Amino acid sequence: MKNFVFYNHTKILFGKDQITAISDEIPEDSKILMIYGGGSIKENGVYNQVIDAISGFEYYEFGGIEPNPSYEKCMKALEVIDEYDIDFLLAVGGGSVVDATKFIAAAAFFEGEDPWDILSRNEEVVEAMPLGVVLTLPATGSEMNGNSVISRVEYKEKLAFTSLEVMPLFSVLDPQVVESLPKRQISNGVVDAFVHVIEQYLTYPVNAKVQDRMAEGIMLTLIEEGPKVLADPTDYDSASNYMWSATMALNYLIGSGVPQDWSTHNIGHEITALYGVDHAQTLAIVLPGTMKVMQESKKDKIIQYAQRVWGINKGTESEIIDAAIKKTVEFFEMMGIKTRLRDYNIPVTVADEVADRMEQRGDVNIGENKLVGTDEIRKILESRY
Ligand code: NZQ
Ligand code: ZN
Repeated sequence: MKNFVFYNHTKILFGKDQITAISDEIPEDSKILMIYGGGSIKENGVYNQVIDAISGFEYYEFGGIEPNPSYEKCMKALEVIDEYDIDFLLAVGGGSVVDATKFIAAAAFFEGEDPWDILSRNEEVVEAMPLGVVLTLPATGSEMNGNSVISRVEYKEKLAFTSLEVMPLFSVLDPQVVESLPKRQISNGVVDAFVHVIEQYLTYPVNAKVQDRMAEGIMLTLIEEGPKVLADPTDYDSASNYMWSATMALNYLIGSGVPQDWSTHNIGHEITALYGVDHAQTLAIVLPGTMKVMQESKKDKIIQYAQRVWGINKGTESEIIDAAIKKTVEFFEMMGIKTRLRDYNIPVTVADEVADRMEQRGDVNIGENKLVGTDEIRKILESRY
């Protein structure tokens, strides 16, 4: 196991009707800006619950955050913050709203020229406005990590930053929000969480038994509960297991002390930036290619994954690897997500396009061994047509 510092200061309020408790978590006398998306919270009752809970505070609203939140929209929120002297942000929504709120929190205190530099030049986030979260879509883990992914429409760029400064103070996880989710978002959420585990697990062995078995436990839970939630989003127990899996998949727990990959995510972000495909859909397309093309360096862990997650014990090494890839694809398809570029009408030329963009930006030689270079990116995508 590698050396690590484990740190996570987000307080989780999990369970039915926990939104009512947020007034105790927000610092007294805060001037709150409540940030939300396209309006789903007004249809499923979450908006009213939040308004009731914060009615004792001075608060303002900022809606309209898009899926794959844009830099352009976030910059508009800064004007509201200035106008009303806001000092606390409350994100109410899915990963996009939470990510946007984190970027706004960092941008509000940014001393440099353009907050975009936090993303494009890795400018350090020295301080950020405190924020809380009411999560409405289990998927990204953004409710318990310091990551944020923002798109700049003007440049067709989708970039990420990470800072402990933007860790939420608290996050409400009420599994009842799953009831109103469209099937497509449940499919996306389960697959995104699954691939988060894979990015921190399918690398090379470092004898980190606790992390490995926790990772396998999360994957087995998603495989068992994902289809149940898809069939019946009102099944509270399954929704609870799905929601907690998604949070545990990306809150530093299983990633501490182990190598991490993230090349599937990096390649996927390019596909979203260029073709507007949902985040999880890009992962379902790319991951089987990453497993296939990078199998030599991932061999030991793919075989462990095959045995412990899918119960595949027979065959040569290469047969076991192929069977593990097949099972993974079948799981994504069963969750309702297609896994080929052509399923989304994306031309095979995307392979060159993405490889060139990533090379130009210097985002190559990625993955746990820095072995995913321009050629590998191209091969991964070509294998997914
Ligand atoms: O905007 P509203 O009206 O709220 O509708 C949303 C949106 O259209 C809807 N929705 C959310 N909760 C709902 C609901 N509809 C009905 N009932 C509910 N309870 O779902 C749609 C998608 O929402 P979005 O927030 O975009 O989805 P998700 O949570 O999957 O977030 C995706 C974004 O997170 C980034 C992705 O790149 C993408 O931009 N990621 C963030 C990560 C992180 N911060 O750690 C890691 C991930 O790998 C990922 O990259
Ligand atoms: Zn993801």
